[in-house]
Amino acid sequence: SQNTQPHQQANNLWSSKLAFTLAAAGSAVGLGNIWKFPYITGENGGGAFVLIYLACIFLIGVPVLVAETMIGRKGGQSPVATMRTLTRTEGTSRGWQAIGWNGVIASFLVLSFYAVIGGWALVYIGKAALGLFTGADAEAIGGQFGNLLANPWELLLWHSVFMAIVVFIVSRGIRSGLEKAVNLLMPLLFILLIAMVFYAMTSGSFGQAVSFMFSPDFSKLTTAGVLTALGHAAFTLSIGIGVLMAYGSYLPKSVNIAKTAMTIAVLDTGVALLAGLAIFPLVFANNLEPGAGPGLIFVTLPLAFGQMSGGAVFGTLFFALLLVAAITSAISMLEPVVEWLEEHKGISRVKSAIGGGLAIWFIGIGTVLSFNIWGDVHPLGFISFFEGKTVFDLLDFLVSNLMMPLGGLAIALFAGWAMKREGLVTDIGLKGSSFKAFMFVLRFVTPAGIGIVFLYNLV
Ligand code: PFF
Ligand code: NA
Repeated sequence: SQNTQPHQQANNLWSSKLAFTLAAAGSAVGLGNIWKFPYITGENGGGAFVLIYLACIFLIGVPVLVAETMIGRKGGQSPVATMRTLTRTEGTSRGWQAIGWNGVIASFLVLSFYAVIGGWALVYIGKAALGLFTGADAEAIGGQFGNLLANPWELLLWHSVFMAIVVFIVSRGIRSGLEKAVNLLMPLLFILLIAMVFYAMTSGSFGQAVSFMFSPDFSKLTTAGVLTALGHAAFTLSIGIGVLMAYGSYLPKSVNIAKTAMTIAVLDTGVALLAGLAIFPLVFANNLEPGAGPGLIFVTLPLAFGQMSGGAVFGTLFFALLLVAAITSAISMLEPVVEWLEEHKGISRVKSAIGGGLAIWFIGIGTVLSFNIWGDVHPLGFISFFEGKTVFDLLDFLVSNLMMPLGGLAIALFAGWAMKREGLVTDIGLKGSSFKAFMFVLRFVTPAGIGIVFLYNLV
């Protein structure tokens, strides 16, 4: 008989329980934590935004993380095939297959702009190593970043290099490519961030930064800001997009998904908060603008590296680790696309990775141009909600604030309401009252939370 869970054959499984946790954490921890979280926190006024973000992580993000991984393991195939199989075996509507398609398209789009920012990290490894930050003031550092953005060819070059690295790793297959890098380098990134926080404590503005991040002032938070917080919770945990379904398809039955999900969420949140605590003291100490936008870390951290002793070494190491974190996330974005090409089009992994990568690279040119030649092009600007949004802004909005949270909503509803309940008890790894509490959150709290945020933004 035909095996309906091809990824669940012993030779395909993650080599250990830890390997899945590392890969999923590698997908979660990335530019979202260190680049995006601080700048959107700055743009949305700080504390109140952070509070909503944390609520979204634990009431919406974690339940979806659990459900999506569980669905992936149960289906044991690519996201699209998994959803097709499960709608059949669970006897539900075929409409749920949209979850798989949404994932393939969203992961395709997200990588297109993620790779451009990954290119910035590449550039900054070089700048740090060459000692270009040494002694530079805020204006000079800002000028360096401005010059980078103004040069489409330079952005394109590093976007291309980043994509090439990702395609190379993915084409070599999931296990050899993924497990090794994350193991050593993630803890190192964590330690370096803590060191940066200690450095930021000496800046004289640490208290101001802490109160900016943690004392909520709800008058600064808009409904659009709440949607951004929800979207970022999805983005930062890599949920709703098929990535965890793809990774979960290789997960042995013995692993407790609930515990693993909690570990990943705590790790990811910890990295984001540390990044904020490292960056905002520098922002305030140098009279920079917290809402400066996507360049925030690239105009603050280099200041610190330029002033501390050994800054060139620390700076190089920091941006190198940021690059690794970005790569392990980018790899996970390519995975649903590659699996779809492999399993549905019968194309080899190598060809799928190269072909998919090329298409994504091409779409990424739109983001490259958003920071220079197309800086004033606002494709949906005639709709007031999208006023002033560049191609990059729109892609980010579409994926992070729409496709990922709505994918998450569909996953919560599918697992909570459409799947057979008996199976879930063993699949999720919770018993008795904690299982009941989890199911309550998954069925009611998570969908209501997402629904309310969207309703408010529509009205
Ligand atoms: N979670 C990643 C980060 O925080 O950088 C970004 C990400 C990874 C988004 C994978 C989407 C995805 F499918
Ligand atoms: Na993240």
